[in-house]
Amino acid sequence: MKQKYHIVTYGCQMNVHESEKIAGILRGMGYEETNATELADIIVFNTCCIRENAENHAFGNIGALKKLKKQKPSLIIAVGGCMTQEKGKTDVLKAKFPFIDIMFGTLNLEELESLILQKRAQKKRVVSIREKEGEIVETLTPYRTSYPNAWVNIMYGCNNFCSYCIVPYVRGRERSRKKEHILAEVKQLVKDGYKEITLLGQNVNSYGTDVNDGYTFANLLDDVASIDGKFRLRFMTSHPKDFNVDVVAVMEKHRKICRLVHLPVQSGSDDVLRAMNRRYTREKYLDEIEMLRSRLPETEVTTDIIVGFPNETEEDFLDTVDLVKKVDFASAFTFVYSKRQGTKAAEMDGQIPEDIQKDRIMRLVELVNSLTRAKSEKYVGKTVEILCEDYDEKKGLYLGRDEFGRMGYFQSDTNVVGEFIQLKVTKANGISLYGEKVEV
Ligand code: 5AD
Ligand code: SF4
Repeated sequence: MKQKYHIVTYGCQMNVHESEKIAGILRGMGYEETNATELADIIVFNTCCIRENAENHAFGNIGALKKLKKQKPSLIIAVGGCMTQEKGKTDVLKAKFPFIDIMFGTLNLEELESLILQKRAQKKRVVSIREKEGEIVETLTPYRTSYPNAWVNIMYGCNNFCSYCIVPYVRGRERSRKKEHILAEVKQLVKDGYKEITLLGQNVNSYGTDVNDGYTFANLLDDVASIDGKFRLRFMTSHPKDFNVDVVAVMEKHRKICRLVHLPVQSGSDDVLRAMNRRYTREKYLDEIEMLRSRLPETEVTTDIIVGFPNETEEDFLDTVDLVKKVDFASAFTFVYSKRQGTKAAEMDGQIPEDIQKDRIMRLVELVNSLTRAKSEKYVGKTVEILCEDYDEKKGLYLGRDEFGRMGYFQSDTNVVGEFIQLKVTKANGISLYGEKVEV
């Protein structure tokens, strides 16, 4: 009987995709997947450290395995990802959870197979964390679990050092993949029937700046969008300091590129933006949105916002509220600032009390929800193209997304997962749409 693996993933799309690479490694070693932890022979935690609650989640779930490991000493527990890559964190993990067998980081994922082999041959725990980023490894084949969507890394790391953010410390400096590798991967995915490709990077707009041969993100987007076949193309994340008209011009040229841009603003106050080291102003951000919408009026924008950053005043917060209303975001990920050891902001005076943070996040979430709901209402009566992604057993309905990321539910007698369908929207419920599949 084959040995079984179980992967627990925390955090962003980047991590979800990296878990697909971990799954690829494990399958290559002969493991097969199980959803039940009790049946697993190896459990891998792919952790996140962007906010404290992501870490607490992982701590809780790793701790919960103590009993299982006692009952089944042959079980291998491996912990990798951003948390293990954090300075000093492996010592904390060792002290808290002496039963962990393997620790690896974000910068040496490809070593996992050899670490597992090493662990199988010895009793002692195996820990391997690389301090500095190395060459990009192109030999890993992800085991994809999100058909018809596929993620494709175009670059790794981040050079921006936003003062609140731990990412540059755990993912190293920016490294761009070679265009040949990216194009070959996307071509193959389209050939394999994938219908939505998302190009991934912490800051996709700075693609190529490390190589500096004149080939930019706009060039890459143009080349990827020129690949034959019907598929949707998305990219994330864009940094407002680098997002530019060249990218918009490429979007104009290709209808394949979704009219949705994720452009994290973080705050609507210039003082806070400066303290965050974001290197753009509120005005520049609003100008960019105007440029984007003047060229492509149907384009929707989503964003990330942090409230309760050190020294954020009520006035600063109201500037954020005002910006959110002005831009009229399609949706927004809203976060309470979380202090991360080792970042500049963690050293700042003026940390905001929790009750004020909570009050601000609640007000902001309410506003964002009202904008999202109002946009949903406008869909009713319209027909939109949905890429069907899955079947919801509970609802007895198929579901998928339109190009703006809006979820639509519908009935179908045949399995239409992976197909583009036309949805006549009859009802909007919060952020979701309901409707009928129609022929056009
Ligand atoms: N606290 C809260 N939110 C954070 N983010 C990054 N670091 C922190 C932090 N320390 C948010 C930013 C970023 C998103 C991925 O996570 O909004 O865009
Ligand atoms: Fe973090 Fe800023 Fe880099 Fe985004 S751009 S990963 S927020 S440092």
